[in-house]
Amino acid sequence: MAEASQPIVSVIPDDEGKEKFKKSDHVAFYRRQMEGPNFQHRALLDTMVLTEKGARFKLLEPDTQTTLLLSVSPCKNDTVRILIDELQPIKARYRVPDVITEEPHVEQLRVERQSKDSVTLSWSSGRHQVCVWHFPFRLEILCEDKAMVTFNAKGKLWLEALQDPPGATSRGSELQEDHTSVLWKETFRQFVDIQANGPSSIGADLCLHGFSHVYGLPEHADGLQLRDTRDGEPYRLYNLDVFAYDLYSRLGLYGSVPLLVAHKPDRTLGVFWLNASETFVNVHYSPSDHQDGQTPPVKRRRVEPQTDVHWLSESGVIDCVVLLGPSPQQLFTQYAQLTGYQALPPLFALGYHQCRWNYDDEADVKAVDAGFDRHGIPYDVIWLDIEHTDGKRYFTWDSALFPEPAGLQRHLEKKKRKLVVISDPHIKVDPDWLLYCEARDGRHFVKNRQGQIYQGSCWPGESSYLDFSSSDTRAWYSRCFGLDKYKGSTPSLFVWNDMNEPSVFDGPEQTMPKDAVHYGGWEHRELHNLYGFYQHMATVEGLITRSGGLERPFVLSRSFFAGSQRLGAIWTGDNVASWEYLRISIPMLLSLSVAGIVFCGADVGGFVQDPEPELLVRWYQAGALQPFFRGHSAKETKRREPWLFGEEVTAAIRTVIQQRYCLLPYWYTVFHQAHTSGLPPLRPLWVEFPREQSTLTVDNQYMIGGALLACPVTEAGVEEVKVLMPGSGEVWYDVHSAKAYNGGRTLSLPVTLDTVPVFQRGGSVVCRSAGSGSCTAELQQLPLSITVALNSQEAADGELYLDDGHSFSYRDNKAFCLRRFTMLSGRLLCRPASEGGGGGGAFDCVTVVQSVTVLGVKSKPFTVVVHVSGAKDTCAAFEYMETCCMLTVNNLKLRVVMDWEIQIG
Ligand code: NOJ
Repeated sequence: MAEASQPIVSVIPDDEGKEKFKKSDHVAFYRRQMEGPNFQHRALLDTMVLTEKGARFKLLEPDTQTTLLLSVSPCKNDTVRILIDELQPIKARYRVPDVITEEPHVEQLRVERQSKDSVTLSWSSGRHQVCVWHFPFRLEILCEDKAMVTFNAKGKLWLEALQDPPGATSRGSELQEDHTSVLWKETFRQFVDIQANGPSSIGADLCLHGFSHVYGLPEHADGLQLRDTRDGEPYRLYNLDVFAYDLYSRLGLYGSVPLLVAHKPDRTLGVFWLNASETFVNVHYSPSDHQDGQTPPVKRRRVEPQTDVHWLSESGVIDCVVLLGPSPQQLFTQYAQLTGYQALPPLFALGYHQCRWNYDDEADVKAVDAGFDRHGIPYDVIWLDIEHTDGKRYFTWDSALFPEPAGLQRHLEKKKRKLVVISDPHIKVDPDWLLYCEARDGRHFVKNRQGQIYQGSCWPGESSYLDFSSSDTRAWYSRCFGLDKYKGSTPSLFVWNDMNEPSVFDGPEQTMPKDAVHYGGWEHRELHNLYGFYQHMATVEGLITRSGGLERPFVLSRSFFAGSQRLGAIWTGDNVASWEYLRISIPMLLSLSVAGIVFCGADVGGFVQDPEPELLVRWYQAGALQPFFRGHSAKETKRREPWLFGEEVTAAIRTVIQQRYCLLPYWYTVFHQAHTSGLPPLRPLWVEFPREQSTLTVDNQYMIGGALLACPVTEAGVEEVKVLMPGSGEVWYDVHSAKAYNGGRTLSLPVTLDTVPVFQRGGSVVCRSAGSGSCTAELQQLPLSITVALNSQEAADGELYLDDGHSFSYRDNKAFCLRRFTMLSGRLLCRPASEGGGGGGAFDCVTVVQSVTVLGVKSKPFTVVVHVSGAKDTCAAFEYMETCCMLTVNNLKLRVVMDWEIQIG
């Protein structure tokens, strides 16, 4: 079958062929720092003050006579925060609020060594130390006397002090003019950016010793491992609306997380750069293949590898947290302690979502809904895009197309299904529309630099943009989701925030001008990357409040920042229906997952253009194995509900959606783990196999939780795929055939259109539902099937998390059930996962285990005995398949909340 893709240009030109998006050399602050001098900062060691917040030093740059204030705060959870600001700025510089959830407990520092050149500080166990060097200033973080990270190793520390505007000085007008044009004003195409604070950029470099693999920094359409930026653009973090984005690019996309994660076999380390203004990151690996000049490669002595990371931001302060791991798990927990844990989604949100721009009218929605039932395909949510509104006025309905929206929701709700509607941040300028007037009169809009309400163009035409950075505006917006206020909405309506980079069709780079002004007088440049995060926050708050604080919200956002994981889901925007975009979706989602944004997905089928049937099937198969699973398509594309391509395609799609539903007890459990420990559901292989070099560059395969290895098929017409089975000594079981494979090698496995390689790791227990039902609510009534996959020691364990699937009762009343299944010496135990592991209280869990399958049973047992506490032992009938060493015990009715055991003898 032919590929449907068209070549996508690298920087999208506008109608006149001019580039719409900037490259780094268009950006003045980037050029200033890259071309500017390395300053010679000195740490004035005799200014050191130790307080309960850490250590403070003055830094002096003699040429510019700038004095900076450095504070270093090592925290209890093995993180070190480095903060640098001007000692006495003429006004406060922007510090990112609302992202760090709670200030971590700072450790008391003590002086270990001190000389005129350096001071070494340690804390708690004394395992970690910080050494501050006088000249040239650098800050080393050491573990057992070995440097792990050096801040300012390359002397790139940069902080442009705020100045009074030129007009406020007594200089001559000529000089002012020159000064203004160069440093206070920046032009890109027809757009002029007046910089109210003048040049205020910051930058710093960190050397990560011993590391040659770094990851993270989403969102980019590129591989999982970050590339050396010496032969191309730096990674750009600047939230932008990029339709059909270019692949293998480091230009900015819809969201940003300034977290870089470095990994080597014995340590995982993170660098979090808390800044919401436009940011660039250069990554240099050493030793590297990059040779200066034409000389042939020189034979080098074996040197320890290192990665140098140079961060540059347009404004704000230097606020950098180094997360010391050492394990991947610890790193994820440290990051979640800092910026928040993944919100526990309502169960329906992990089901399948059917979206399109647009479902035409109520009849269309009902027909699509019925189509799922007719074809026996489970799904939970149908979505309405912008056309459902009255002229793109969000919170309204097109009365001709959707005359009975509440009735439509009730129709869906009868089948326990939900409706999601879109709500964008731009508000149509319409003085006859009450919501616009309320926003205007309540001063909820972003202003331009002249102090008037800013206007830009988006779907409704001339629009103004809500200033979500103001908590008042967020509270007002939240109230707009109240059932009394949002006419035609019911409790089964959920929300989608789109275009919230924000997208402004006639703005520079299709976004808001940086000199627009937010609440508190802050320029948009300071908080650009927070805009979508704040809208997401307000919407989530609105849905929670709407339910009286009882129900978990579901909100999908296109734009995001560090911390968005606390709010809900994100997706990777306007991808294209081509094999390459299917392939890139995997590393994109892994990068997001590594950076904490774990409830993520890509438009299944590709948003732009029409997928050929084979691509559509492969995309469903991949999407079913990813956290957020939604089919979506653009307005101009052909309809593509799963049953429109013939029975073979319908059957293949039905199968994977059903398999997804059967696996939901496991997905829900790994989401609960993300919610409580920060571990992402989707994991690069190195997270589970940190010591295996072979896993470090793999980004077409991944783990779902700790138990399942997935390798979606992303090539057309293939009959075979290569799969790396990590871990020598590991056993992997094909989830479909139960066939066992030894780890530590790459295998070529045959595939058909219906097969997707998925393996269960020996040593794990996975709970599935015994059937898929028609939606998640039905699924919750079904019994469970448990698969125990034995490792080489014939042992296995795993957890199961259950609750009501929708309310906050699990949190407020501890109404949940967390069970652990442990298999050892032929005995499978079902017990609470920990002291107080739920199972009682307000959660009335009636779920039963119907069957247990044990993989890797070497010989046919004589008996299988079931023991339930308080009851007599019973012998259970079982089946044993010698060819695949599989034992199955059926017809059980073991309540999952009870303690029981099964003895195989
Ligand atoms: C852009 C979004 O990325 C896309 O998913 C949506 O369909 C359109 N906006 C229209 O709302």
